Amino acid sequence: MHTPGPFFFAPLFAIDPPPLGDAHVACVGIDLKGHVDAWRQAALPWASAGEQERAARFHRHLDAVRHLVGRALARALLARELGVARLSGEFVGNPWGKPGLPDCGIEFSISHSGDAVWVALCRGVAVGIDVESRDAVADPHALAEVFHPSERAALLALPAAEAQDAFLRCWTRKEAVVKALGEGLSRPLASFCVETGEVERNWLVEAPRGAAASWTVADLPAAAGYRVSVAAPAPGLTITWHY
Ligand SMILES: CC(C)(COP(=O)(O)OP(=O)(O)OC[C@H]1O[C@@H](n2cnc3c(N)ncnc32)[C@H](O)[C@@H]1OP(=O)(O)O)[C@@H](O)C(=O)NCCC(=O)NCCS
Repeated sequence: MHTPGPFFFAPLFAIDPPPLGDAHVACVGIDLKGHVDAWRQAALPWASAGEQERAARFHRHLDAVRHLVGRALARALLARELGVARLSGEFVGNPWGKPGLPDCGIEFSISHSGDAVWVALCRGVAVGIDVESRDAVADPHALAEVFHPSERAALLALPAAEAQDAFLRCWTRKEAVVKALGEGLSRPLASFCVETGEVERNWLVEAPRGAAASWTVADLPAAAGYRVSVAAPAPGLTITWHY
């Protein structure tokens, strides 16, 4: 039996987040900046054959590395929690493409944007995490069309510069919820509502129809130029982050 403890992606990249407790959402973030190829090398031994093949098909090198590092980080964290040296086999996607490891009792979510890669894990409760780079937002007022009427009204009331930050807050929060549900774009973004203002927690105003009524949601500290949100459909979970 492998003893859970600090694990090492490579000598340069020791990662030692706290162990995953019950009622706990553990989030781990990586900044690839300046070390993209070193991270690729560190991730490769953890990635499955399918993940390595998929990475080889990306046109952009950074997209391939983000995919590998996200999957490798999820695998390394899961292996540590499950007390095994490494995970063999492929993750199984749900009907909308969310990867999972069936029957292990741990749910996880992966997100990447720019140089940032994040993974969230939770025992027995679905979880969604989303990181976005500020560069991703082109025209916040136009993009707000797809949001809930209250979110849209709040964004349209702001001047463009402030609307950009508010849009990004709204986006990562909504995407974290959608990713926890695992339904991708089939869940209309107007069918639930989040705060657009600067609150770190409890920003889910109206839960998605048909889903749990009480959620644990939070924004996490992130590198300059990035926003990260996490969501899980159960109340009172403790959220920790390691970055
Ligand atoms: C996949 C999706 C859920 C997230 O995409 P994204 O924000 O572009 O990318 P992220 O890096 O955050 O997430 C991608 C990862 O999510 C995971 N994923 C894929 N499908 C998923 C799904 N249906 N649910 C949850 N996670 C999913 C995968 O791990 C994927 O990365 P990987 O293949 O490298 O492992 C997206 O396609 C989507 O459907 N978004 C929902 C709504 C939306 O467009 N919101 C925009 C503004 S609110």
